[in-house]
Amino acid sequence: MDWYKDMAEENFQPKIVAFVCRWCTYTGADLAGMSRLQYPPNTKVIMLPCSGRIDINFVLRAFMQGADGVLVSGCHPGDCHYNEGNYRARRRWTLLRDLLDTLGFDLRRLKLAWISAAEGNKWAQTVTDFTKEITELGPYTELHELCDCVESPLAPEAAIAAKMAFTEAKPAEDALLKTVQQAFSEEKVAKVLGWRSRPTLKRTSPDWFESAEELKDLAAPPAGVNVVRLCDEPVLANEPKLGVIARPRELASLNVLTQEHALNPEQVTVFELDADGKYLRTGTLRELSGEVAQKFPEGQVVGHSAETMQKLAEFMQKPRAERFAFWKEVSQHCLHCYACRQACPICHCKKCYVDKNQPQWFPTAADGMGNFSWLIVRAFHLAGRCIGCGACQTACPADIPLNMLNATLAKSALDNFSYQAGVNPEVPPLQADFSQKDQETFII
Ligand code: FES
Repeated sequence: MDWYKDMAEENFQPKIVAFVCRWCTYTGADLAGMSRLQYPPNTKVIMLPCSGRIDINFVLRAFMQGADGVLVSGCHPGDCHYNEGNYRARRRWTLLRDLLDTLGFDLRRLKLAWISAAEGNKWAQTVTDFTKEITELGPYTELHELCDCVESPLAPEAAIAAKMAFTEAKPAEDALLKTVQQAFSEEKVAKVLGWRSRPTLKRTSPDWFESAEELKDLAAPPAGVNVVRLCDEPVLANEPKLGVIARPRELASLNVLTQEHALNPEQVTVFELDADGKYLRTGTLRELSGEVAQKFPEGQVVGHSAETMQKLAEFMQKPRAERFAFWKEVSQHCLHCYACRQACPICHCKKCYVDKNQPQWFPTAADGMGNFSWLIVRAFHLAGRCIGCGACQTACPADIPLNMLNATLAKSALDNFSYQAGVNPEVPPLQADFSQKDQETFII
């Protein structure tokens, strides 16, 4: 399994993949050729319609297939032939770089540049410099080394036992029970999402209640589970009178779904609880959705506990290689069970892209490379959307600290774009928006 080590020969010739937009950078590269400019031949160019089309999976795939460096380039801001493609790409790259940094990826191997059709010289210079830098760094073998570490695929026993522990369901508060019963009798709701006690299983799990009689099984919310995960497309599309029993985390999740036009806030009646599960009041989602930020301690990134943020800050003090070694160790326990995806209140795509095999971008095997890719792709898919409820980490049987990756992206969204997921249902989602003032210090 050490074919990749052969690459570390004395006469190492780096393999570089460049994803470029067709209108500016590709034409700039053409100009360099027509002008007979000399530059190293190590770069394979892949032309795309716009830098906005460059997907994180393209970059990952290039590294997985043996690239030592990846160059991504498009038109200068303001010059995009589709007006906004490069502004949107810039926002995604900012988030992606922060995520990769937490994962201990060597960011020197990913270069981003704006190169116009008239900048043949800049293309030649960028490729020359990047080839030199990658040659000095040597072959990129870290991702391939991940394939070697599958000897201990199971998480530590204690972690698994803690996840499997039975919990006795606590009955729902009287005040909440009466309010929901009344909403059913007045036909304000046809279905209510809450927690059902399952005594024989010694479990409390999210479920839909369809009548006042069923409410005898209504339980108090347990920690770690977010009921909004059951708000999937068929229910939202077909039922105009929904009720949701919601703590701040559920309220924030509903706001994200509103922003993404997955639900209509007039269609949902919220039975609001505080963070500890105590009943507060009832109202439509539209009435209650604007107050989410006040429900979390001031200065806290919505949903992400101060403890997680502190842990993240300490983790980022470690050297890059140590960060990578940490994720290499924990990711090998991943079973590809997708429990994290199933528990997530925000994952509501009709078909998850990891389940598509035409084309198959994603390595589905529970091996080092497949696991590491899943860590990246799952977290990135939730960038600017995750509200930090921690349901994914609670569900993970391998006890992978997924919250740390989610918190990285939440911090990046706040620091770079002053954006917090789930706070304001009236604004566009982070990745569907841009500002001409978004920072780009990492782009040459
Ligand atoms: Fe070049 Fe959009 S067309 S970046």
